[in-house]
Amino acid sequence: MNIRLPFQFPAATLIVAYDKNRGIGYQGQIPWYISEDMRFFRNITDGQLVVMGRKTFQSLSKPLKNRYVVVMTKQNLCALQSYPAYDNNVAACSSYIKLLATCFDVMYKFNKTTNFIIAGGAEIYKQWLTYPGLYAILTTEIEAEYCVDTFFPQLPEGWTGLDTTLHCQGNLKYNRTLYVKKI
Ligand SMILES: NC(=O)c1ccc[n+]([C@@H]2O[C@H](COP(=O)([O-])OP(=O)(O)OC[C@H]3O[C@@H](n4cnc5c(N)ncnc54)[C@H](OP(=O)(O)O)[C@@H]3O)[C@@H](O)[C@H]2O)c1
Repeated sequence: MNIRLPFQFPAATLIVAYDKNRGIGYQGQIPWYISEDMRFFRNITDGQLVVMGRKTFQSLSKPLKNRYVVVMTKQNLCALQSYPAYDNNVAACSSYIKLLATCFDVMYKFNKTTNFIIAGGAEIYKQWLTYPGLYAILTTEIEAEYCVDTFFPQLPEGWTGLDTTLHCQGNLKYNRTLYVKKI
């Protein structure tokens, strides 16, 4: 039986940077600093609703200016207030369904298009990779190996790389790819 949902899932884009072994983090931090990649993240997320896990939020050294951040956590908003990235544009969300409700709410409030960005870490990527509204994945794959303890999962079936561009910072090379769902 074909069931038609009475609404469209808000559209989401996932953004991630990983090394040769799909490593994304070490001891709660990103193991590299690539200034152009940071700028790229800023540009993509500027003015957008950004979803991240509590551990990733905890790792940020300051608030993400001009972005609305929804932090997935089983704790309440008060628990986030001691973190350096906390400001008035931060909300806490305790489940996938509540997050979608928050997205609708924020989109309505800010009169924005139905789009949000999934910004990690590993636990969050894992849960959102199968989200029906996910329509684009932007990856930065660094051609180097780091000491890592957190990984980006393999993409599920049905994704294809559309466009890859090679970038360099000093001797460090990295490839940026846009993945979309095969139709
Ligand atoms: N390279 C990259 O592009 C990139 C991007 C982002 C992050 N990172 C790195 O990734 C690492 C962090 O990843 P991680 O997997 O350890 O942690 P994470 O995904 O950032 O956060 C995990 C936390 O999110 C909350 N959470 C997860 N699923 C939930 C759900 N369904 N409902 C409610 N809350 C939920 C829980 O918070 P509570 O414990 O508070 O309940 C959980 O402890 C760091 O090293 C970070 O630097 C790398």
